[in-house]
Amino acid sequence: MQEQTASVGPDELATLKQLALLGAVDGPVTVTCATLADRLDASNQTASRRLQRLEEAGVVERELLGDGQRVVLTDAGERTLRGEYEQYRRIFERSAAVELTGRVTSGMGEGRHYISLPGYMEQFVDRLGYEPFPGTLNVELDAESVEARARMDGLDPVRIDGWEDDERTYGPAFCWPATVSAAGGEFESAHVIAPERTHHGADQLEVIAPEKLRETLDLDDDEEVTVSVTAR
Ligand code: CDP
Repeated sequence: MQEQTASVGPDELATLKQLALLGAVDGPVTVTCATLADRLDASNQTASRRLQRLEEAGVVERELLGDGQRVVLTDAGERTLRGEYEQYRRIFERSAAVELTGRVTSGMGEGRHYISLPGYMEQFVDRLGYEPFPGTLNVELDAESVEARARMDGLDPVRIDGWEDDERTYGPAFCWPATVSAAGGEFESAHVIAPERTHHGADQLEVIAPEKLRETLDLDDDEEVTVSVTAR
């Protein structure tokens, strides 16, 4: 992919984006150099040259027609745009992160039970991409973070569906990607987990992760941690 996209400069990238906006990701679209030139605020020759470069770089395929051309993005073309998209995501989602601080506490060992239930576990593996350590790390939020927690509602979570067995039903839950930082280091691929209907003003935050965070981050009760929560 590196070689194929090496010759796609900023001007070609802008052209590729316009083609995608015209629908050329899903299948071939008919475009004229004039249309493209207009969208790029450039001359017809410039538009034509950029299309040629995009073809040479292997990010589009073209078929010339009498009065225009049929253009489609290749897989490499789509990957190139996705790369840009990921960068924008990083820019905007970082600033959209909700930072919560609090202290590590011990619960009553309920986390272990719920996280281990197969009805949840299968969904964690499927939707979070890992098998969580059986338990939740409880964080007692400081007063400011109890307030700030409401801003998590604006972040799109991963949804874990409710399910039932012979005896009872288990409610749906939301998981938000989170980074946990403490004096002992930082763990990036954790999630905050909460029942779908969260009681606002709840001062306990529960975190799941593929590892035992108390060990990875060397945490003891009462130690201060910052949990940076983002959209999925
Ligand atoms: O007793 P408590 O409800 O706090 O614990 P639990 O949810 O049953 O989890 C067992 C232990 O693992 C507790 O000490 C949690 O703080 C810890 N834990 C952890 O360090 N990292 C995780 N990803 C999950 C739980």
